[in-house]
Amino acid sequence: MSAGTDDERLERDRREQFVTDQVINSFAGTPDPRFQQLMESLVRHVHSFVRENRLTEAEWAQGIDFLTRCGHITTDRRQEFILLSDVLGVSMLTIAVNNPPASNATEATVFGPFFVADAPHVELGGDIAQGAAGSPCWVSGTVHGTDGRSIAGARLEVWEADQDGFYDVQYDDDRTAGRAHLFSDAEGSYRFWAVTPTPYPIPDDGPVGDLLTAGGRGPMRAPHLHFMVTAPGYRRLVTHIFVRGGDYQDSDVVFGVKESLLVDFIEHPAGTAAPDGSHPDRAWTSAHFDIILATEGESS
Ligand SMILES: [Fe+2]
Repeated sequence: MSAGTDDERLERDRREQFVTDQVINSFAGTPDPRFQQLMESLVRHVHSFVRENRLTEAEWAQGIDFLTRCGHITTDRRQEFILLSDVLGVSMLTIAVNNPPASNATEATVFGPFFVADAPHVELGGDIAQGAAGSPCWVSGTVHGTDGRSIAGARLEVWEADQDGFYDVQYDDDRTAGRAHLFSDAEGSYRFWAVTPTPYPIPDDGPVGDLLTAGGRGPMRAPHLHFMVTAPGYRRLVTHIFVRGGDYQDSDVVFGVKESLLVDFIEHPAGTAAPDGSHPDRAWTSAHFDIILATEGESS
């Protein structure tokens, strides 16, 4: 659509800027300066999006409908807005902004929509699978500070999908499986049984799936195991380990893969002795992951 003569274009720009200025001015009395800053910036950016793209009313309605569908499909077990944030890279960008490189600390990655608070406690060497289907996987490592000191009593939350690509919360039977928390021992070591991670699609039967399809994108995540590690005095770490050489590493739908988080998952035949002295009757894997936590407030 042509904006006509220079005069017409100037008048158009003036009328459009007037709307933006009105909205920004409406926040002039905001008591919380941070909230005011965020709202002003949000309004400027959203208005710029509308202007730059000459957004049609039909497209605006389509956007509203999309967000409405995201809201309707979201429950306490399905979080479409986190998915949306993830597939647009907003989650990874927020992580990058808030987790500046801190010397040699372990890198963070997306939280994802499947964390559940108050997952069961397992003892060191216990099994977080709790019935989740998959080949057994022995996961072990240490928790240290960036100064090399071991961290005893660090709390590790771990969660993962089963071999069919589903988290427990995606089943309708209220099961708890493939998730637990445990604590590092006096030497800062940890170990547990899990299932070997496999690739899975993010839930793509809702509006975010439609968005991916419209964008010619696939829904797959590179195989991974989630960690959230906390210890007093240290920055909380939310991350994954990824199976080195696993599928979808270059096209992870939420942009979560980082080179430093690729871990070898070593395959062992059935019957070979595991580190805990057991002899699994199926083929199993083992993975080692040393975790380094930044001190609170630490940056490079
Ligand atoms: Fe995941």
